[in-house]
This record gives sequence, structure tokens and C-alpha cells, in this order.
Amino acid sequence: MLSEAIAAYAHDLSIFCTLALLGAELAVFRPRMDRNAVRLLPQLDLLYLLAVIAVIATGLVRLFFFAKGVAFYAASEIFWIKMALFAVVGLLSLPPTFAFIATRKAAAGQGFDLPPARFKRIRTFIVGELAVFSLIPLAATLMARGLTVRPPGPMSMERWRPDCCGGARDTGAANARKSIRVARRRSGDLGNDLK
Ligand code: HEM
Repeated sequence: MLSEAIAAYAHDLSIFCTLALLGAELAVFRPRMDRNAVRLLPQLDLLYLLAVIAVIATGLVRLFFFAKGVAFYAASEIFWIKMALFAVVGLLSLPPTFAFIATRKAAAGQGFDLPPARFKRIRTFIVGELAVFSLIPLAATLMARGLTVRPPGPMSMERWRPDCCGGARDTGAANARKSIRVARRRSGDLGNDLK
């Protein structure tokens, strides 16, 4: 149990670091930047990349070694929505990364004035990253409670008893099924299913 709690803590901590670094980028990125700001942005961006790698690593550790087992998440549409949102954040982070590196190069150790259109465009990407990133925890909390987008179909996990979770930990699988039942009972779905 302690190792699972530490894995969850590490996942949360790396998420908070990612969010803080993204916020710092937004705060430092200005149309007129002195040489410290020009030098700081690519450094913040590198730390942001390391924090994202930590989020992925801790997420995969939870996925394969803790929580409810791989089969639970593989069958969860919301898990894949979470992964898709994360990929979108990754894509939105590319133009700012290239802009920070190009600005440092063009500034050649001095301060730099960005053309207003370029500043506005890059800032929109950073704000977009933050907006999409803030949706991921919502997907994560829904996913962790076994909530799904569509009612269970013929292939959904709910119908694959008992081997739906393959080699996954029986307790995790049993808990997963229980949490889905509780979630569905709350949403009034279960009655229909048992008919
Ligand atoms: C490759 C990327 C990721 C993987 C594989 C991953 C995987 C996981 C897993 C397996 C859990 C445990 C869920 C459970 O208790 O059933 C979890 C929880 C969580 N993840 Fe991630 N995650 C990833 C990225 C992220 C990101 C980018 C964020 C936030 C921006 C995030 C936010 C959360 C939160 C808030 C929880 C706790 C949910 C709860 O217990 O209510 N994850 N993640």
C-alpha cells in the first residue's frame, strides 16, 4: 500500500511541477524581454520537458504496477481521452519551444523585442496548453472511478467477467468492477443491464 501511495504522490507532484513550469513560461514570456528572460525561457522549457517525462513515467508505473491494472484502463474510453488530451498539450508545446530557442539565438545574449503578431501567436499556444492541461485531471478523476462515456457494449469490460482483467490483480479487477457497479447504480444504468 505504501508503494502505491508513493507512486500516486510522485504522479501528483510531477503534475504540479509541470503546471508550475507552464505558468512560469506564461509569466516570463513578454513582447519586450531583457537578456535574463530570453535566457530563462528555454531553461524553463527544458525543466517543463523533464517534468512531463516524470508525469509519463509515474503514470506508466501506476498503470502497469499499481491502481486497477492495465485491462481496466485499456477498456476505459476516458483513459484514452486523457491520453489524447495529453498528446494535444504536447503538440501545442512545440511552437513555443521553437520560438524560445529562436529568440535566444536572435538575441545573441541581449534583450529582445518580439513582433506583436509573433508574441500574440506564441502566447496563444501557451494559454492553449494550460487550458487543455487543466482538463486532464477531470478525465483522470472520472477514469479512476470507472465512469465511461458510452453505456457498456458487447466488448466492454463490464461484460467480460471474470477474466475481463486478464493477468491484472484480482483485487484490482474486483475493485474496478465494484467501482463501476457503484458508479452505474448511481447513474441508474445497472438496473437496465441486469434485465
Ligand atoms: C502517460 C501519461 C499518463 C498515464 C499513463 C497516467 C496514468 C494514471 C493512472 C494509472 C492513474 C491511477 C488511476 C486510478 O487510481 O485508478 C492516474 C491517476 C491520475 N492522473 Fe494520470 N496518467 C498520465 C498523465 C497524467 C496527466 C498529464 C495528468 C494531469 C494533468 C494526470 C492526472 C492524474 C490525476 C489527477 C490522477 C488521480 C485521479 C483520481 O484518483 O481521482 N495524469 N494516472
